Amino acid sequence: MKTNSLQTLKMNVVDNELYLGKYKISDLGKEYNTPLYVFDENHLRAKLDLYKEHFKDNDVSCRVVYASKAFFAPYLLDILNEYNMMIDSVSMGDLMMIEHAHFDFSKVVLHGNYKKEEELEFAINKGVGYLVADSLEELKNIDLITRKLNKDIHVLLRINSGVEAHTHEYMQTAKLNSKFGESIYDFDLHKKFIDICKKNSLIHFDGYHSHIGSSISEASSFSEASKVMLDFIGEIEKRNGITINTLNLGGGFGIKYLDDDKMIDIKEMVTNIVSRVKEYNDKGLHIKNILIEPGRSIVGDSSFTIYRCGGTKKSYGGKTYVFADGGMTDNIRPALYGAKYHVDNASNMNGNKVLVDVVGPCCESGDVVRSDIYLQEAKDGDYLVTYCTGAYCYAMSSNYNGAIRSATIFVRDDEVKVAVNRESYNDLSKSFSTLNDIRKHKVFDCHCDVLYDLWTRKAQGVKNRFKDYHVNQLRNSSIGGALWTMYSEFDFNLIEACKIALEELKEKEKLLPNFPVILGLEGLRNVHEISELDTLYDMGFRHAMVTWNEENKWATGAKSNPERGFTEDGIKLLKHMEEKGMIIDLAHTNEKSFYDALKVVKKNIIYSHGLCKAFCLHPRNLTDAQLKALKEVDGLFGITLANSFISENEENRTFDMFKKHVKHAIDIMGVDNICFGFDFMDYLSEFPNSNLIDVSDATFSYRIIDMLEEMGYNNEEIDKMCYKNFFDRYGHLVHKF
Ligand code: LLP
Repeated sequence: MKTNSLQTLKMNVVDNELYLGKYKISDLGKEYNTPLYVFDENHLRAKLDLYKEHFKDNDVSCRVVYASKAFFAPYLLDILNEYNMMIDSVSMGDLMMIEHAHFDFSKVVLHGNYKKEEELEFAINKGVGYLVADSLEELKNIDLITRKLNKDIHVLLRINSGVEAHTHEYMQTAKLNSKFGESIYDFDLHKKFIDICKKNSLIHFDGYHSHIGSSISEASSFSEASKVMLDFIGEIEKRNGITINTLNLGGGFGIKYLDDDKMIDIKEMVTNIVSRVKEYNDKGLHIKNILIEPGRSIVGDSSFTIYRCGGTKKSYGGKTYVFADGGMTDNIRPALYGAKYHVDNASNMNGNKVLVDVVGPCCESGDVVRSDIYLQEAKDGDYLVTYCTGAYCYAMSSNYNGAIRSATIFVRDDEVKVAVNRESYNDLSKSFSTLNDIRKHKVFDCHCDVLYDLWTRKAQGVKNRFKDYHVNQLRNSSIGGALWTMYSEFDFNLIEACKIALEELKEKEKLLPNFPVILGLEGLRNVHEISELDTLYDMGFRHAMVTWNEENKWATGAKSNPERGFTEDGIKLLKHMEEKGMIIDLAHTNEKSFYDALKVVKKNIIYSHGLCKAFCLHPRNLTDAQLKALKEVDGLFGITLANSFISENEENRTFDMFKKHVKHAIDIMGVDNICFGFDFMDYLSEFPNSNLIDVSDATFSYRIIDMLEEMGYNNEEIDKMCYKNFFDRYGHLVHKF
C-alpha cells in the first residue's frame, strides 16, 4: 500500500531507511525522544498558500480562521500571522495561551456552547475580533457585560442549520438535536436576538456562523450548508428589515488519512463558496465578509508521529503485536472514533510485510496505533511512523498511565525547531497537593538562617537565591511563618550583611505572600555597641541571641568557658532588649549565661532551638532544670532537628530517639510552652546533612505534624505547639517588607 503522505511530504527512502528531506527518521527519534510529532513545515506552508491563493479578498473579504483546537503552538501562530490568518478559541485556557503567544486578539474568534462569564468578560475586554454567541441566553449575558465594561464587540450567532454531514456521529454538529447554536427554523427567537442587539449600541451584530461537523469528505455537505445559510440570511433580512454583512461557514474539511479516503479539494470548495455568496449578493444579499474555519485540513497531513518499536509478541491465537512506545496517550483518535492511520517501519522500509497490530504500552486493549496492517517486519529498536497526525493528536493527548506529552518539532529545509517541548516527569506531579498541603496544621519555624544564606549566596554571585531555593522549599512545606536570622560565627559587618539580605527579600510579599516573618540575629559578636542594635532594630530586627557558641562582649556561648556568663554590658543589653519588646533568645548561651539572663529579664524569653540533655549531653541541649526555669518565665522551648543534638551516638540519631526528646520536653514544659525551631541546614554549604534524616529539609516538615498526631496530641494542642504559642505571643513583631 502506498501512503499518500509519502507522496505529498518530502519523504524518501535511502538504504532501507525513511527520510524527511535530509533527516533520517530514526535519527530524529533518537535525538528528540519518542513519541515525537514532526511537522513538515514546507508542506504546511504549501497548504497555507493554497488557502491564500484561492480564498482571497475580491468584492467580499475572505478570511481564514485557523481552528486552533486542532493543534496549538505559538510557533504555528507566528506562521499563521505571516499569512494574516485569524484563529479560533473556545475557552479561557485557549485565550490565556493566545495571550501568552502575543497573538493579536482582534484576530481571534471565540466559540463555545457554554462560555463562562469570566471567559466572556476576558474576551470582550481584550477586544476579540468576533464573539460567536451560541444562544439567545448567552446574548443576554453579552448584553450585560458590554454595558458593565462599556466595551463594544462584534457578534455572530451560531446557527444549527440542520445539515447532517457525512462523518462520525461524534463529529456531527448540526443535527436537529445538536447542543450547538440556535435552530435555523426558530424565527421568533431570531427576532428577539436582533431586538436585543438593536437596543445595545455596543453590540455590533454582524451575522451568522455555521459549522456542520468535522472530518467531512463530501464537498456536497458544504455546498448544501452554504446554500441553506444564505437562504436563511435572505429570510432574516426580509423579516426584520436589517442587513447581514458576515457569514462564517466553519471548518470540517476532511483530509486523506489512507489511500482510499476522499479528500476535500480545497481550491474547488473555497471557490464554490465565494461564487455562491456573490450569486446571492447579486440577488440582493449584503454579505461583505466570508469566514471559514479549517483546522484539520491545514495541519492534519503536514505532520507524522515517530515511535520507537519495543519488539513484537505473538499471541497464542496467532496475532502478532508490534509494540510502539506511544498510542492512545498521544493519539486517542483510533480509540475514540475508530480512526485508521497508515504505519511504516521507518527503519526497514523495504522489508517483508506481515500482518500485525501496532499497539501502545497502556493497560488498555484499546490502546491501538493501527490494527490489522501489513507492516514491514519490525524489531526492538526500529522506528515506526504514523502519518497525518498533525490534527487532534497532540491536542487531545493525555497523561494517562503516567505518559508524558511528547515534543513537536517543525522541519523546514535545513532547520529543525522544537515548537513544543517534551514534558518532564516533574510536570506529572506539578498539580498535586503535597503532603504538606494536605496536613491541617502549619508550623511557625522559630529558627531558620535564611538571612545568612541570602547574604552569603549573594557574595558568591548566586542570583535569585530566595526565589529559586527558599520560596520553592517553603511553598512545598508545612511551614506557615518563620523567624529568619542572620547568623554570626565570625567577624563581619553585620549591619551591611543584613542590608544585603533584606535587599534580596524585596519581592518577598509577591513571592511568598501570607507568610509572616520576624527578623532575628543569631549571635551579637558583631554588635559592638547597644546603639548598633538600635540601628538593626530600626531596620526591622526584633529578635536576638546574644551569642553563638563563642564568648563575646555580652555573654558566653555554649561551647565556651562554663564559668563565664553575662557581662555587665551584656546585662545592660538584655534590659535594653526587654524595654524595646524584642524577643530574647537564650539558645546558644552556656548554662551560666542562661541562668544569669533569667535573673535579669522575665519576659519575651525563648530558647529557639535545642533538645534535651536527658537524652544527649550536647552543650546546646537543656537540662530538665533549665526547661523548668524557662517554663517559670512563660518562655518557649523550640524543638530542633539538628542531628547531633539527638544522641552522642551517631547510630541513635533516629526518628524514634528524636520523639523521646519531644515527649520529654512536652512532659516538662506542657503544650503551652513548646514551639519548633527546625534549623534546617540543607541549604548551608557548611553544614550539609546536619538534620534528622527523616526530616532533612522543609519539604518533609509534614512529618512533624504526623508525629504529633501519632503521639496522641489533639488538634488544639498541635496547633498551639506548631504555631499559636509563638504567633500569639510575637505575631505583632512580624516584619513589613
Ligand atoms: N469551527 C468550529 C466551530 C469547530 O468546532 C471546529 C472543530 C472547527 C471549526 C474545525 O474543524 P476541522 O476543520 O479541524 O475539522 N476531535 C475530533 C475533531 C473535533 C472537531 C471539533 N471542532 C477529531 O479528532 O477528529
